[in-house]
Amino acid sequence: MTLTPLEDLPERAVRVRAPGKVNLSLRVGARASDGYHPLSTVFQAVSIYEEVVATPADDFGVSASGPQSDAVPTDESNLALRAARAVAERAGVDDGVHLHLVKGVPVAGGMAGGSADAAAALVACDALWGTGLSRDELLELAAGLGSDVPFSLVGHTAVGQGRGHLLTPALSRGEFHWAFAVQDRGLSTAAVYRAFDEIRHPDGPLDDDQDVPLMQALLAGDPAALGAALHNDLEAAAIELDPGLTEPLAVATDAGALGVVVSGSGPTVAALARSRKHALAVAAAFTASGVADRVLTATGPVAGARVVASE
Ligand code: C5P
Repeated sequence: MTLTPLEDLPERAVRVRAPGKVNLSLRVGARASDGYHPLSTVFQAVSIYEEVVATPADDFGVSASGPQSDAVPTDESNLALRAARAVAERAGVDDGVHLHLVKGVPVAGGMAGGSADAAAALVACDALWGTGLSRDELLELAAGLGSDVPFSLVGHTAVGQGRGHLLTPALSRGEFHWAFAVQDRGLSTAAVYRAFDEIRHPDGPLDDDQDVPLMQALLAGDPAALGAALHNDLEAAAIELDPGLTEPLAVATDAGALGVVVSGSGPTVAALARSRKHALAVAAAFTASGVADRVLTATGPVAGARVVASE
């Protein structure tokens, strides 16, 4: 056995995990002058996690492991790295940090994996450097990094407005069971919104009332009613860019899913199941029919970004 020399061991490490999400409903208005689309969305955090291990370093760096980690940028465009720099700048910290990302959430899959990395990095750097940023400060930094980053911090169930970053917690009872059909090929969120602009020309303000049955289903903990209420305005645009997505949608329906929807901007397809066992059966149907590169099962809702170990 080779022993790691003492000086090579990280002095301290903070490990944070943050969940991916499903948009139970995603309603999209017309592109605004700032280039973004106004949203009315209901997020649910699910038990598929990103883990970020932050260790002290002289400079800022990032590495990644896990499925699809080759597709994660490790240059300055990396959202977790930008989150670390944002904490250092806000708190006046001169130190660097190395972030190691353990990918669990599909990359460019419409489940906010990159946003979860950023949320986890905010919490990890705040803990590592003892900067003691308030929840509101972290949320403000999160919103500056990306539309889905605030929700990865908060977790559970929330209604998102604005770009999706203005959050109101929503009441939800019980546990919901999901099966996900994951593709190796990602979809660019910006490209899906562009395709949306070509297909749809929404007029008038977003109508939040359309999600009343969905909110009632959450409150009642009623999976059948939730399944019937799942909705995604970006689904047609995602299918336009990736026509093969109709296959996992059909397979999940045939396997008795209570509802099935493209997750966010895709290409992951999320199927709501009756139970944990049924979620495994839907996942098996995805695998058997060859319509997914990888399958995952999960439950929701779960908590947002949390320190899991500090050593
Ligand atoms: O905010 P984020 O960087 O995650 O968004 C990625 C891209 O998705 C944006 O550059 C924009 O083109 C598009 N987008 C949008 N409207 C939103 C959220 C994102 O048009 N509400």
